[in-house]
Amino acid sequence: MLKNKVAIVTGASSGLGSVLAEELAKAGAHLALFARREGKLAEVAERCRALGARVVTVVGDVTEVEDCKHLVAEAVAEFGQVDYLMANAGISMWARFEEIEDVAVFGKLMETNYLGVVNGVHAVLPELKKTRGMIVAISSIQGKIGVPLHTGYVASKHAVLGFFEALRMELDGSGVDILTVLPHWLRGTDLRQSALGKDGGTLGESSRKHSKESITLEDCSVAILKAMKKRKRELVIPWKLRVLPWLNLLNPKIVAWLVKGKVTEQDK
Ligand SMILES: NC(=O)c1ccc[n+]([C@@H]2O[C@H](COP(=O)([O-])OP(=O)(O)OC[C@H]3O[C@@H](n4cnc5c(N)ncnc54)[C@H](OP(=O)(O)O)[C@@H]3O)[C@@H](O)[C@H]2O)c1
Repeated sequence: MLKNKVAIVTGASSGLGSVLAEELAKAGAHLALFARREGKLAEVAERCRALGARVVTVVGDVTEVEDCKHLVAEAVAEFGQVDYLMANAGISMWARFEEIEDVAVFGKLMETNYLGVVNGVHAVLPELKKTRGMIVAISSIQGKIGVPLHTGYVASKHAVLGFFEALRMELDGSGVDILTVLPHWLRGTDLRQSALGKDGGTLGESSRKHSKESITLEDCSVAILKAMKKRKRELVIPWKLRVLPWLNLLNPKIVAWLVKGKVTEQDK
């Protein structure tokens, strides 16, 4: 089903985007890989080529409309079509709201995690309509619940889900499907190190431990490919977290207690 299909992957230079690219390559897809770090992107591209994929790399920033247009143009020039947009690029934060010294942090999170997705979708939609393709948007379980120390990240991931709820209705009958992906914590990514801190800079290396329930990038990527094949509309990883948004409606105090406990565990 993915053989000879063309997928654009944003944020392909590390973490989930890089492993998703490799899984897509194993499944026979060809790839347009996009991120800002050229060297890391080239390494991922080499691994995908070794798995048999044709790959084009495009260096750019999802917050720049012209970079997103250029990405789609390069993919079409190389492969003649686009079947999937994996809207994956993102950044995080780790800071109490009251301690944040510069509210520009919130703008950066919205520009990358929300507007970055909108920019990619806007550029690629005409191509996806031709192929009756699919948008795969990596949100987070934090798109449905609150998590302390993540106010701006939570807001940006809620925005992504709201955007796609509306767009899905507009695209009804167009042949283009939308899969929103809501993972729990993932291990083995650069997200924590590139997360914004209270002074607006990146946090860098930290000794913060991942919770025991964190997901491997391989498991997450395999689940995403399965959901793509079934043209699903939403994927929560792990599946048991599907209960959280419901529990939040019924008893938000319990959810707040659970979530605060998990974050405190990691904030030591
Ligand atoms: N890690 C988790 O626990 C977790 C949980 C749920 C959801 N997610 C989501 O999963 C996605 C991937 O994150 P990850 O955990 O794999 O972290 P990661 O390793 O830091 O990957 C983030 C990717 O996004 C790219 N990126 C960031 N800002 C960009 C920009 N302005 N323009 C273009 N590319 C940009 C980065 O590449 P460059 O720096 O080279 O541009 C990198 O390739 C994100 O949307 C994240 O919110 C992560």
